Parts: sequence; structure tokens; C-alpha cells
Amino acid sequence: AVRLRVREALGAREPADAVRVQGWVRSVRSQKEVLFLHINDGSSLESLQVVADPSLEKRDLTFGSAVEVQGKLVKSPHRMQNMELQAETIRVVGPCDIWSFPLKMKERHPLEYVRQFPHLRCRNNTLGALLRIRSEATAGIHSFFQDNGYVHIHTPIITSNDCEGAGELFHIETPREAKESAEKTHFFDVPAFLTVSGQLHLEVMAGAFTHVFTFGPTFRAENSQSRRHLAEFYMVEAELSFTESLQDIMQVMEDLFKTVTSTILSKCPQDVELFHKYIAPAQKGRLEQILKHKFMIISYSEAVEILKQAPQTFTFKPEWGCDLQTEHEKYLVKHCGEVPVFVVNYPYDLKPFYMRDNEDGPQHTVAAVDLLVPGVGELCGGSLREERLPFLESRLQRLGLTDTYQWYLDLRKFGSVPHGGFGMGFERYLQYILGVDNIKDVIPFPRFSHSCLL
Ligand code: 4AD
Ligand code: MG
Repeated sequence: AVRLRVREALGAREPADAVRVQGWVRSVRSQKEVLFLHINDGSSLESLQVVADPSLEKRDLTFGSAVEVQGKLVKSPHRMQNMELQAETIRVVGPCDIWSFPLKMKERHPLEYVRQFPHLRCRNNTLGALLRIRSEATAGIHSFFQDNGYVHIHTPIITSNDCEGAGELFHIETPREAKESAEKTHFFDVPAFLTVSGQLHLEVMAGAFTHVFTFGPTFRAENSQSRRHLAEFYMVEAELSFTESLQDIMQVMEDLFKTVTSTILSKCPQDVELFHKYIAPAQKGRLEQILKHKFMIISYSEAVEILKQAPQTFTFKPEWGCDLQTEHEKYLVKHCGEVPVFVVNYPYDLKPFYMRDNEDGPQHTVAAVDLLVPGVGELCGGSLREERLPFLESRLQRLGLTDTYQWYLDLRKFGSVPHGGFGMGFERYLQYILGVDNIKDVIPFPRFSHSCLL
């Protein structure tokens, strides 16, 4: 018998004898004359209907069990489905103890409920759809950059720098170091951390390959139970040499967003539909609209003015020089019509050392950009980088970081070029396009403070 995935069986154009399909039972319905099964193997949202003689029914053929069915693939009389499988043999490969199995047949379990079972929730439709979309989006991101001449760089996970300087580092230590902490012996001779961003390593590579990108896990010890923060999340980062304007960086952010989103809409229509039908009905049709229009751009100073004139009061009073809070981001996005908005030119004192000085005043800013999106807030952060040695030297000096960043200063001595880049939080991206409320539901195994299951 020819082995078919459920997706192939459902999409077959012609009937076929002697096929074999393997998967997990999503439903069993036994009638007097006929036994119906639905089996799913993760290849599609839709399950394959199996029609069998009731004599093939056995006790351990239950919801959740793993089965192998052999038989004939025939045209289905059912309007919604093209093909179904007429079973000749059904073998239960692995039975399922339905009494203790936390998922129940034909139930739409809330996302919070299935989150308790990270080892089983992928058997649920919503997580199944999410993980297929996540996989396509990953491929789409790689294609976008490869098609546009970027070189993919594996930036390290273990590093000795704190790129963002925000003090949210996870320190790495061996059991021996932990014990002998008084002696300050380090495995690497220096303190080492899990990376918060691959940016600085990308800047190294942009000095040789011009356009580079990385897409990997990043780590932040944010003690936040928020619905938009994880301790381990995936970041897409790009760095472009010979770039003098923030506009060029924003263009890449916008192109990346639009290209990957249209890829997903065309490659996973059923999976996306599930989210827009059951999870976020308001999102239906909106993405297509957003893809057609240019993203808006406002300056940080304009943003503060908009906030000051808002009819509502905020917990944090908007003031030039203060960071935009979640409530502010939310209001700005609403003010702009619930569409993605770039906010550019942030106060110098708010941003990390590497951002390029705009040399303006008295309200001193850097060439930074954040992309804000409805429901999520900050989706991307980027900037032009300070490529001028004297500017960078004096800023690092003031921060007492000159020794740490000798190598970074070197890059400004040996063929420095204007350059810039950005990072996009991959989970926040999925959250936004699918309308998922909690970031923990868009990553297979979420890690956040007080939780590291499995
Ligand atoms: O704004 P961030 O901190 O920027 C950087 O790290 C830059 N070095 C990137 C670069 O220019 N190459 O982080 C980038 C994005 C944020 O906009 C957000 O979407 C996401 O990463 N992010 C998080 N996502 C989930 N959980 C967290 N704790 C996150 N922190 C940041
Ligand atoms: Mg940021």
C-alpha cells in the first residue's frame, strides 16, 4: 500500500486502491451499519474521514489513539470533503487512556486550559494551526532575506556583551562556578550571558557582507507576567551597510512584514481562517487591507503631542523624554486608525549607546525607530548605528564601557560605513497577524518568570 499523509489524501484528484494513512484519532462515531473515524497527522487542519465496517471497531480504537488505516481512497459524498478512506484494516498503533487524557473529543478547549499541557496541546486544532503557520512564517522570513541578497549569520547564543544595556541578562555558570563563586573562576574567564540580541555580531558581519540577517532565540530576564513578554523568544534581525537614512530601514521592515504575511495568507489559508473565525473575528479581512497601504510614520515628538492632547488620562503622564508606555502605544495606534505605525527619532537619553546621534536640539534625539501595531504594541525596534568614532568613543566613555567595547570601536576604525538595522519579535508578529491575546500561545514551549515546563 502507498503511504499518504492526510493532506495528500484529502487533496488527491483520483481515487486510489491500497493506500495507507497513519495518524491520531480525532473522532469516532459508530453507527449500526457504519463506523466513522476522523484522523489527523498534523499535515493539515482538516482531518481525513475514514469509513469502515462496524466489525472493524475495537475497544482501544478511541479518541486520541494512534492508528494505521489501509484501504481505498474514494470520492466523498460529503460536500465539504473531496476524498475519504474506505477502511479495509485498522490497526491501533498506540492506544490512548481517554479517562486521563486532558483533551476531549470535539471540544474547543480554551487556550489557557491547553497551556497547562505543553506536551499535549499540539494535538489541539488551534495549536496545530499555529505551529504550521509558525513553520511557514519561518521559511518565509528566510526566503525574504535570501531572495534580497542577505547572508544568513548564526550569531552566538552565549555572549559576553549586553547589547541593550538594560540589565535583563541571564548569566551562565557551571555548577562548579556556582559553588566557588567566591573565587570568581569563570568557565570562559569572563562573565557570560545568554544573548539578548544578535545585533552587535550582525554589525561585525555587515562590515564584510553588506546585508546580513539572523533569526534565532534571544533571552531576557524580564520579570514580567505580561501577555507580550517571554524570557525566551525568537528575534529576526537585519543589518544593512551603506545606509544613511532611517527610511531605508523602515522600508525593509515594512517589506518583510508584508511579504511574509502574504506568504502565510496564501500558503495556510485554512489555518489562518481558524484564528480569524474563532480567536480574533475582528482581524478578518483587516490584514489584507493593511497589506495594501503604506505604514504611517510619526516622530516621537509628534507622538507626545498627540498623547498630551488625548481626551483620556493616562496612568503615566506623557512627557517629552519619557518612554512610551503600553497605554501610550495603544492610544497612538488607535489614534492612527488601528494600523501599524512607525515612531521615529527618540530622545537620546532613552536609547542604547549604539544609536546614531541626530545632533539636533534642544530636544536631543537619535535615529531610532519602533514599529507599533494594534493589540501588541512594539513589534520592531531599529536604528541607524553610530558609525562615527568620536561620537561613539565619547558616549561609551560616559557610560564607562570603553574597555568592554574596544572591538566595537575597532569597527569604526577599519572601514566604517553608515549602517543600520532592526529586530522584529517573531512571537509578537504571530500574535498580531493572528490576533492571539497572549504571547504564550504562539510559541511551542513558552518560558516566562516562574514557568519552565518540560
Ligand atoms: O527593541 P528590542 O529590545 O531591540 C533590540 O534588541 C535591537 N538590538 C534589535 C536590532 O536592532 N537588531 O527588541 C526587538 C523586538 C521588540 O520590538 C519586540 O518585538 C521583541 O523584540 N521583544 C520581545 N518579544 C517577546 N518577549 C520579550 N521579552 C521581548 N523583548 C523584546
Ligand atoms: Mg525596543
